[in-house]
Amino acid sequence: MAGGFSVSASPGTEFEAKITPIVIISCIMAATGGLMFGYDVGISGGVTSMDDFLREFFPKVLKKKHEDKESNYCKYDNQGLQLFTSSLYLAGLTATFFASYTTRRLGRRLTMLIAGVFFIVGVIFNGAAQNLAMLIVGRILLGCGVGFANQAVPLFLSEIAPTRIRGGLNILFQLNVTIGILFANLVNYGTAKIHPWGWRLSLSLAGIPAGLLTLGALFVVDTPNSLIERGRLEEGKAVLKRIRGTDNVEPEFNEIVEASRVAQAVKHPFRNLLQRRNRPQLVIAVLLQIFQQFTGINAIMFYAPVLFNTLGFKSDASLYSAVITGAVNVLSTLVSVYSVDRVGRRMLLLEAGVQMFLSQVAIAVVLGIKVTDRSDNLGHGWAILVVVMVCTFVSSFAWSWGPLGWLIPSETFPLETRSAGQSVTVCVNLLFTFVIAQAFLSMLCHLKYAIFAFFSAWVVVMSLFVLFFLPETKNVPIEEMTERVWKQHWFWKRFMDGDNHHIVHGAGKINGTNGAAV
Ligand code: BGC
Repeated sequence: MAGGFSVSASPGTEFEAKITPIVIISCIMAATGGLMFGYDVGISGGVTSMDDFLREFFPKVLKKKHEDKESNYCKYDNQGLQLFTSSLYLAGLTATFFASYTTRRLGRRLTMLIAGVFFIVGVIFNGAAQNLAMLIVGRILLGCGVGFANQAVPLFLSEIAPTRIRGGLNILFQLNVTIGILFANLVNYGTAKIHPWGWRLSLSLAGIPAGLLTLGALFVVDTPNSLIERGRLEEGKAVLKRIRGTDNVEPEFNEIVEASRVAQAVKHPFRNLLQRRNRPQLVIAVLLQIFQQFTGINAIMFYAPVLFNTLGFKSDASLYSAVITGAVNVLSTLVSVYSVDRVGRRMLLLEAGVQMFLSQVAIAVVLGIKVTDRSDNLGHGWAILVVVMVCTFVSSFAWSWGPLGWLIPSETFPLETRSAGQSVTVCVNLLFTFVIAQAFLSMLCHLKYAIFAFFSAWVVVMSLFVLFFLPETKNVPIEEMTERVWKQHWFWKRFMDGDNHHIVHGAGKINGTNGAAV
């Protein structure tokens, strides 16, 4: 019971698919969209703790930072400064609605290209910023890039991957996110020593991931699902043969054609998303995003340098600590790439729930006892303990909520609502990322150490949700989720009654109508 339902592809229902070089290369290229997202996430914390940057754009914060009388927890509590970080997410969430249209109508590949162009222009504005306005405009353009990229990349990966390694390939996106964050942390570590324009270099080096994504988008082929959805059946079939490394693609092709026939009938994708039979995927996608952000991960990702500074580390040591957490983040994501199609999604999320909870409680206790408003003398031993706990927290996030927050929604929506569903996913993700970015420094100032207790309570809630309501999607072909997952789940199956948009599958999946469509 309790969503413990697990499906393993029984022999005979799995489509023939080799793991071809073209699939691997396409996925690696597409996943560079994650690099850019990660770089943007990681760069702002370090930049906003650089004096040269503050002097230029936020002189008030600089003054406060060097005054002793301010409470430790409140040094960086400035709305303008938080806006610099958060404007990107606000722009991104708006962009996702346009991105839903382009992924559907223009395809996954062109949407990635659009993202690349936004990124490049955004980077130019940021690197050359002469005033706060230019800085914010640059962040907004980057945000648009994130909106388009995060929409198209996870879908692209889930659709192009052979079922049995779909999870692993999809997580390449998150792997790139974490590499982007780490790269940004390393860059900040170096540029903090370059006065007075180090921050400019930090912001400009985002050009590297931006360029990679643009190049990647020029070279990859679009997914068969997207080609077929846009009526390019022959091309879709040819691509399917190429990426699967076999001529025997009829069963999979027919299933996509059928899914796309259903998708074609949908005139209003967003309205359709609200229908009862799409409720389970919608609820899960939305909640997963909210939960992902309420793990508190971005409190660490955005503000690790600031946080470590608050704890009494000197500037250099704080960046150093951020680099450590960044590396842990990347390495732990690899654990997920390896295990997600083996142990499954639920197992990773549940284990991580326990680990995250324990680490956060430990951090709250140490800070509660050791860091008071005026004294930031954490002591060497305690400081190390906090860094270690931050690392165990980050590592468990990195093999669970980080990648799975993106993977699960991208693989559970049927083709008919996939673009709209993904855009809601990205939108909710960015909305809550924005909320955390905008509120964290003020929350830190008011809640102090209890902020970690706050997040740990959320971890309990989300773990219970996973336990009871999240079905296992490991090894289920992407166009068969309705039949094999939702209709079998103890709770969600009640939403599947009267499902007239029946997607035929299994041995008899190629019925007469489909044959005619080919
Ligand atoms: C989240 C980001 C987060 C990152 C950390 C992603 O999955 O969406 O908000 O910063 O993971 O690695």
